Amino acid sequence: AAAEKDGYPSFMEKEINEQPEAVAATLLGRSDIDGKLILDEMRIDADVLKTINKIIVLACGTSAYAGQVAKYAIEHWCRIPTEVELSHEFRYRDPIVDDKTLIVSLSQSGETMDTLMAVRYAREQGAKTIAICNTNGSTIPRESDAVLYTHAGPEIAVASTKAFLAQITAAYLLGLYLAQLRGNLFQGQIKDILADLGKMPAKIATILDNSEQIKELARSMADTRSVLFLGRHVGYPVAMEGALKLKELAYIHAEGFAAGELKHGPIALIEEGQPVIVVVPSPRGRDSLHSKVVSNIQEVRARGAMTIVIAEEGDESVREYAEHVFYIPETTPLLAPLLTTVPLQLFACALATAKGFDVDQPRNLAKSVTVE
Ligand code: G6P
Repeated sequence: AAAEKDGYPSFMEKEINEQPEAVAATLLGRSDIDGKLILDEMRIDADVLKTINKIIVLACGTSAYAGQVAKYAIEHWCRIPTEVELSHEFRYRDPIVDDKTLIVSLSQSGETMDTLMAVRYAREQGAKTIAICNTNGSTIPRESDAVLYTHAGPEIAVASTKAFLAQITAAYLLGLYLAQLRGNLFQGQIKDILADLGKMPAKIATILDNSEQIKELARSMADTRSVLFLGRHVGYPVAMEGALKLKELAYIHAEGFAAGELKHGPIALIEEGQPVIVVVPSPRGRDSLHSKVVSNIQEVRARGAMTIVIAEEGDESVREYAEHVFYIPETTPLLAPLLTTVPLQLFACALATAKGFDVDQPRNLAKSVTVE
């Protein structure tokens, strides 16, 4: 078994470190040199995809956070209204689905019963269904009209890491493909975004090569009872995923919030010493998002929070309010989750390891949940 772990102490650490390859493999062969997307597996007629007037993304757990990132990208690039819903909520609320609805399911295993049942239901209502899946020949892709495989390789650790980054990558490809097909973006724009995506594996590797600082911090926090995560725009699902990893691996109460929501409630939780991890948007991003999130760091700090900040390289504005700053390489703001997620995975894994827990097999959890 030690050999299977490639010298890493756990599958989780191995899989976190395989993320550059997981993203690269998912991108591989899916576009040509002119930046044209070629998704051979997309077995839904282009004419049908052009008439789609709504997308519903369905998933559970970590996959659902990848789905939330997908929504930001797809709506921005394709201008198609996109909802994200937990599979088990979707099916029981009489959702509005018809033959102009495109369902995008996200599932690492392809066997999650909640998601399978939701896809079946949507198909019965006439929707077209695309599965983004990491497991060849599994049930959800078999029961869908088309499949876009993530090529993260087998994921053994129960909590998902490399499959999550691969799902986000595949969702970007799908968004760009739809934008290409429907003429929402110029070919040159698609080419530029693909070029940025192509640089991601090396940027993820840089974060992994410099992981000691965040692991050290995590180990020093083994007695922490609760951690809050804040993020905004695509950093919001990243914050929720960071919190989920900490719950799953370290059994610590953790919650991810939209940073803008802080003042509407969660700020009441802040007391002396409360750790708050903030995913800061790029200062080059939209409008004033960056400065608003920096204000949030200031607000929680003023109330005694211990602030830990994930920010873009060169962003000196956060230093003043942060106990700890971790920098990630610069990228297109929409693509940042492929980078900002990584320190949060490292944090949860190192903290859980410091507490002596088995990060590969957390208590009470299963890799694939095949019951409803
Ligand atoms: C289980 C796993 C999670 C995973 C979720 C969805 O609960 O413990 O790590 O995110 O299922 O799994 P899927 O295979 O559908 O992505």
